Amino acid sequence: MNTHDSTADALVLFGASGDLAAKKILPALCALERRHLLPPFVLGVAKSGWSADDFRHHARAALAAHAPEAAEADVTSLLAHLDYVDGDYRDAATFAEVGRRLQGRKAPLFYLAIPPSMFATVVEGLHHGRLDKGGRVVVEKPFGRDLASAQNLNKIVGRVFSERQIYRIDHYLGKEPVQNLLYFRFANGFLEPLWNRNHVRSIEITMAENFGVEDRGAFYDEVGAVRDVVQNHLLQVLAILTMEPPVRYDVDTVRDEKAKVLGAVRPVRPEDLVRGQFEGYHAVAGVAPDSRRETYVALRTQVDSWRWAGVPIFIRAGKLLGVTATEVVVRWNDPPRDLFGEPVRALSNYARFRLGPDRVEIALGARVKENGEAMSGRMIELELDRNASDEETPYERLIGDAVRGDPSLFARQDAVEASWKIVDDILDERLPLYTYKPGTMGPAEALGLTAVYGGWYDPRP
Ligand code: BG6
Repeated sequence: MNTHDSTADALVLFGASGDLAAKKILPALCALERRHLLPPFVLGVAKSGWSADDFRHHARAALAAHAPEAAEADVTSLLAHLDYVDGDYRDAATFAEVGRRLQGRKAPLFYLAIPPSMFATVVEGLHHGRLDKGGRVVVEKPFGRDLASAQNLNKIVGRVFSERQIYRIDHYLGKEPVQNLLYFRFANGFLEPLWNRNHVRSIEITMAENFGVEDRGAFYDEVGAVRDVVQNHLLQVLAILTMEPPVRYDVDTVRDEKAKVLGAVRPVRPEDLVRGQFEGYHAVAGVAPDSRRETYVALRTQVDSWRWAGVPIFIRAGKLLGVTATEVVVRWNDPPRDLFGEPVRALSNYARFRLGPDRVEIALGARVKENGEAMSGRMIELELDRNASDEETPYERLIGDAVRGDPSLFARQDAVEASWKIVDDILDERLPLYTYKPGTMGPAEALGLTAVYGGWYDPRP
């Protein structure tokens, strides 16, 4: 999409010794280096007592573990760009040193790969160190813990950086199949007449993962499924599915439409929610022994717009389920008369979007007649697209966009706050919680939400 800002000439990574830097960011930087898209200077900042050489050693080890496919030449070339400042984020001297190293750079990108509790400190440190001018800042999720804290955070970051300088990362937006969802909706004419309350019976979004939270129990226990993936990833997917066609394909017009539709999504009521926790969750390291944090959530909402009024929207997400898949199913109405007297079916006409992680598919479901005398049929799928995987990782794509100054795939403040509004009433840990067995599709109580709409569509392995 069109870009407005200049290309960043330095990248400053706060949280350089952290997990996210090792697992996602350094591999993405290495991939960008391979394509000659990385700024010429990359400065790590952390408080680990490291020298620049220690940071380079750490980076090499992180790449060996998390990007084993990276060519030695690219690794060496990335390491040659790296420098490091060791210091406390509360100490003005840290920012003074960052400033010295950035001398002569006009458009630095500051990447905050740090706990949200430190965002304000670092943003203010950048401001007092006079580093914010000409700079841009990339902020990692979770952006707030609820509506009030997100608004507060937006206020703090907004005092220093303008909205155009703030890049809020939601890595789902950097995924190829999520981009394809937007493309598919607006690059085809046939869908539009069918994409509304007159024809759509329900929309369902499932994000199932067959793994737990073993190595991040402490983090997850603070967060839970709603904050971890619903408020951000899945509501972004919902926005793309339900937004009005933008009149132009440019950064602000697309983001306006997303914010508008998120503002029309009805806040989820506790009675439209089923929270679950997998059996054995309390034994995970870092999890409180009496934790009521949800590792599974299923909910119902709707979009209060002319296009979507009354169409139920179901979202569910969970850890340690029977399959790993993110899938969207849009069901169209059944024929108005059951001419052939066939048994009631759960599914007849639908669009299915498999958004990964291992498979990407777009398919349309329809019924065709079985051979023979009887007028009875079976389901088939017209497969429209099938892809193995992304060429670029979402982090590579998004960091590359932030470096170039293209904010289109980043979440804007109004959309972030609208998303928190949708889930703000369901964050309370005292809400009912049901347990489920690992390897299943969650607590049986969730079946009630979709029962009259034909049940949940479970993604195939
Ligand atoms: C992250 C969540 O944002 O997204 C994780 O914190 C989740 O809990 C992950 O597993 C899923 O994303 P992906 O791209 O790995 O499927």
